[in-house]
Amino acid sequence: MKKSLLTIVLLITLVSILAYGLGACNKDENPNDLTYLSQEVPAGFPQPVYKFEDNPLTKEGFELGRKLFYDGRLSLDNNHPCASCHQQIAVFGTYEHDRSHGVNSTHTLRNAPPLFNLAWQTKYHWDGEFNSLYNEAAQPIHGDHEMGETFTSIVNKIQKDPDYRAAFKKVFRTEFISPNDLLKALAQFTGYITSSHSKYDLYKKGQASFTAQEMSGYTVFQAKCATCHPEPMFTDYSFRNIGLPADPLLNDYGRFMVTKNPADSFKFKVPSLRSVYITSNYMHDGRFNTLAQCLNHYRTGVQKSSTLDPLLTNGIILTNTEANDVALFLRTLTDSTILNDPRYTKP
Ligand code: HEC
Ligand code: HEC
Repeated sequence: MKKSLLTIVLLITLVSILAYGLGACNKDENPNDLTYLSQEVPAGFPQPVYKFEDNPLTKEGFELGRKLFYDGRLSLDNNHPCASCHQQIAVFGTYEHDRSHGVNSTHTLRNAPPLFNLAWQTKYHWDGEFNSLYNEAAQPIHGDHEMGETFTSIVNKIQKDPDYRAAFKKVFRTEFISPNDLLKALAQFTGYITSSHSKYDLYKKGQASFTAQEMSGYTVFQAKCATCHPEPMFTDYSFRNIGLPADPLLNDYGRFMVTKNPADSFKFKVPSLRSVYITSNYMHDGRFNTLAQCLNHYRTGVQKSSTLDPLLTNGIILTNTEANDVALFLRTLTDSTILNDPRYTKP
């Protein structure tokens, strides 16, 4: 009797030691008990270009990025967070604005693009000035027409907040908040936002059908628009001049401002058309506020110049019915799930 009791006690001790050992081992691999997130790659999409290899995607990192995205303290007057220009109700563009408002009553030079499927892009901004989400986010933080703030001042402000200190420590295992980690967290939030739940996506999966007009619009779209706006991303990510008359007040030469190559004058990045029906205003300077105006530009407004895209030498010929049908097709690209997805709302 005594002997078996001893054996049991010994066994329990052994099991506990083993269990502790294993636990400690697991803890070494994931010392902060982070919850890893897998990147969403919707059916039919190509592989993303940015795979978070240098910035492992975790629930905690994403949440920290979300908090920063909505935090006014990242701006000079504490009142211009990323989310003031990138609003969820506008698919993270600025709701019905041509250009956005920054600190000190300034205006941005360009229209704020909606933010989704960013991990599929290699160049950010209308002129492609930035080639990573990290470099991109540093621009509005410092920009005089955006947030006008410095990293030193931001770190001073948020370091005082015990929640931030705890979150940075958990995600990046550091006692000190660094600009680099701040940009990484922001990239986890913005880079994770994926849009793939439109009627068009359901149609492609055989789960929805198009009306006759949407179908006819789809056919016209494939013939006349898809070279530059190809499925399934609805952009080829190239830079092109579509013959919009230059606005003399803005002096915006587009891609030329990055490459200094005159052949790039007035070329702007082809935007995705996903959710375009709910992302007005349109074009790099937000000059149009309806899809009809965009279509009319292609039909009758294309201005000739030496860098005009050869596809548009004669504009795009569309009958009124075709233009109407294309607009209806574009509405099938709307993914309204993003507008109230709780993962993306203000924490
Ligand atoms: C004052 C308004 C404003 C604020 C604040 C702002 N942005 Fe933007 N954002 C813009 C505008 C305008 C553009 C387009 C810039 C261009 O093309 O020159 C842009 C572009 C972007 C892009 C590139 C999208 C693409 O498809 O190329 C990303 C990503 C982005 N912003 C993220 C952020 C983040 C993260 C923050 C906060 C750190 C932020 N923005 C703060 C207005 C703003
Ligand atoms: C030669 C390439 C090309 C073709 C063809 C083309 N687009 Fe575009 N599209 C662009 C570029 C580039 C822009 C951005 C231009 C700018 O802002 O300067 C754009 C912008 C747009 C916008 C505004 C989107 C936004 O978010 O601001 C819409 C809508 C649009 N195109 C629809 C169409 C439709 C519909 C067709 C076919 C009838 C078409 N495009 C054909 C290159 C093209």
